[in-house]
Amino acid sequence: RAFLHRLWKGNVSSRMLAPRLQKAMRDYLRANKHGVRFRGRRAVARSRAELLCQLRARVQLRTLDGTELPFSALGWRRLVPRAPLSQLPLQSLRSCAVVMSAGAILNSSLGEEIDSHDAVLRFNSAPTRGYERDVGSKTTLRIINSQWYKKPDYNLFTPYVQHRQRYPNQPFYILHPKFIWQLWDIIQENTKEKIQPNPPSSGFIGILLMMSLCGEVHVYEYLPSVRQTERCHYHELYYDAACTLGAYHPLLYEKLLVQRLNTGTPGDLHHKGKVVLPGLRMVHC
Ligand code: C5P
Repeated sequence: RAFLHRLWKGNVSSRMLAPRLQKAMRDYLRANKHGVRFRGRRAVARSRAELLCQLRARVQLRTLDGTELPFSALGWRRLVPRAPLSQLPLQSLRSCAVVMSAGAILNSSLGEEIDSHDAVLRFNSAPTRGYERDVGSKTTLRIINSQWYKKPDYNLFTPYVQHRQRYPNQPFYILHPKFIWQLWDIIQENTKEKIQPNPPSSGFIGILLMMSLCGEVHVYEYLPSVRQTERCHYHELYYDAACTLGAYHPLLYEKLLVQRLNTGTPGDLHHKGKVVLPGLRMVHC
């Protein structure tokens, strides 16, 4: 609980995590399985306004459009949806919700509030049926990670091709790796410690995706509320603190960055696990 109070204030470091999670972090740092080298510069004292300007200048929502190698040689241009994600008629979205699948959302009664937004983003296989009171029932977008999409990290492309052929009218995209690694750079630049050299979590990607599309973004149970629990997902009886605090993903650092960006009230953070962020189009630099 002391940790939770410090997280709400943005005043934690990885040294306060359980030894098991600290060891996992060190192992991922050592393994550096993606061969990441950070060439930027760290500047951790940025104000909220400066952070927002940095995001506005550097975050560019991009999806694979099939025009780059190796995809161009494979005829992907005709395979990907004709309109890029950034040009779907989503541009006019005013207020959006990002709903994390955390166990802490159980018994929140946030469903009605979540459904009142113009668009709702959910993750992976997170269900709404049976959980409407706590998570709502509206789903506009989903981020599916490549581990979930018919198994591993590595063969993402074959199932993508099959899915596109089967459901040609569903706007289904692969996020461009440059978008994802650009977010990683921004997290590292604004963090004192060395962060895990692995992609940001889908939660963080989803937040920045919605900040790119919406006027205002309300994020639920990313920064945990008083309901914080080791239960990983609301729809599953599986317990692991790493789901909320990170091991593979630089999740703790993502959350510290999001805490610095929050314009919502402390009451909403503590009781709803809610963070409110301006859309990037609302940021004037
Ligand atoms: O577990 P899954 O990848 O489906 O969750 C989606 C995102 O929600 C994660 O990438 C993470 O950012 C966030 N999450 C969280 N706390 C949890 C579970 C998920 O912050 N307990």
